[in-house]
Amino acid sequence: MSDKKATLTFSDTGKSVDLDILSGTEGPDTVDITSLYGQAKVFTYDPGFVSTASCDSAITYIDGNAGVLRYRGYPIEQLAAKSTFIEVAYLLVYGELPTAVQLADFKEIITNHTMINDSLLRFFQGFHNNAHPMAMMVGVVGSLSAFYHDSIDISDPRHREISAHRLIAKIPTIAAACYKHNVGEPVIYPKNSLNYTGNLLRMMFATPCEEYEVDPLAERAMDLLFILHADHEQNASTSTVRLAGSSGANPFACIAAGTASLWGPAHGGANEAVLDMLEQIGGVKNIDTYLAKAKDKYDPFRLMGFGHRVYKNYDPRAKIIREVCYQVLEKLADSNNPLFELAMRLEEIASKDEYFLEKKLYPNVDFYSGIIYRALGIPDSMFTVMFAIARTAGWVSHWMEMLDDPRHRIGRPRQLYQGAGKRDYVPLDAR
Ligand code: CMC
Repeated sequence: MSDKKATLTFSDTGKSVDLDILSGTEGPDTVDITSLYGQAKVFTYDPGFVSTASCDSAITYIDGNAGVLRYRGYPIEQLAAKSTFIEVAYLLVYGELPTAVQLADFKEIITNHTMINDSLLRFFQGFHNNAHPMAMMVGVVGSLSAFYHDSIDISDPRHREISAHRLIAKIPTIAAACYKHNVGEPVIYPKNSLNYTGNLLRMMFATPCEEYEVDPLAERAMDLLFILHADHEQNASTSTVRLAGSSGANPFACIAAGTASLWGPAHGGANEAVLDMLEQIGGVKNIDTYLAKAKDKYDPFRLMGFGHRVYKNYDPRAKIIREVCYQVLEKLADSNNPLFELAMRLEEIASKDEYFLEKKLYPNVDFYSGIIYRALGIPDSMFTVMFAIARTAGWVSHWMEMLDDPRHRIGRPRQLYQGAGKRDYVPLDAR
């Protein structure tokens, strides 16, 4: 019960319903409509969840108008400057920054879970060598449920924790195996002396024939991207994980569902779509033509990597990654590469364009992440996989938070039915 109320009055009957207004620690107040159907026999209508809070959460806070993003209260700028992905993963899962001992223990646990059951590797033989790595990810991550029966009693908090550890640890190993399958090279097993992103780079780019040295700039750039991508409150993939988990599905199945949702170009697929778009634009001389297409409401072309449902200001993640993007391009890539030049010019022109300014369409994190991944030598088809690795920390945190909440129920949205009224079956010969 809350002291603050909203009163909804129906113009046809004059009937009024009082609804509680809930306040979070930050962010807009929320009208609690759970009793509305019981009281007034009406549903609310909000396709795309534009005005709907789907749950309580204490993990991530976003103020889209002010360009604010915080994990467990800590500003993303501070975490990006001072933390590491593995520490951020701990923070998301457990709610507090770890002590030195807790961090060392967590690193060891994650390191000890990096190998995948060898039978899982045989799954890859069933995929074509040109299979999209996200297609393999969805299948192989889901199939983890067939291997780790000892940790899928979701009513046991310890099982939930072990599953979360396994997922954070094994996702990079699976991701690297997807890449190796595509390029036809032998799978490289994890090396536990390396840190999370160094290990991933090695599993992707080492071969059994030669020594592999992890480039510290590449490792740090990837770690930073993973920090920025680790969570983003109730986005499409996280909401998918929660919805799948609300039915009691096992954690591996839930993360596979989140991975599938992430794949779309409006969400995690955007980083790959940015590079496709740059190739389609072809050169600086064509920017004006493509900007005109992006502004034409009858043309489906959109400037990928621009705009965000929540940020109506500069995406704070984009601000951080922009600088790193320049550093990586300068040191690791051929900075005379016409594609990178095109990307920087496009960003400059679009950021000053009236249409984009008026609609508050700023470059988002994925405009830069794809460019950085390309400069690190990661193929475009793996970009969304990189996002999935990082977001797994957020997904498992939300899944655990939901199951820890004794009030959680199966997610079951209703609908505004617009189909045919009752009609009688017509036999085939009479149609
Ligand atoms: N290029 C051109 N016009 C755009 C763009 C764009 N990238 N994004 C939005 N608009 C226009 C859109 O046409 C609409 O115009 P109007 O009001 O005249 O109809 C207006 O801006 C609002 O767009 P919307 O589609 O209603 O906004 P949304 O909140 O539903 O969509 C979005 C958000 C991210 C899906 C969209 O901006 C988009 O498609 N961007 C490109 C894809 C992209 O970069 N996605 C990655 C998001 S960041 C990573 C993540 O969190 O997953």
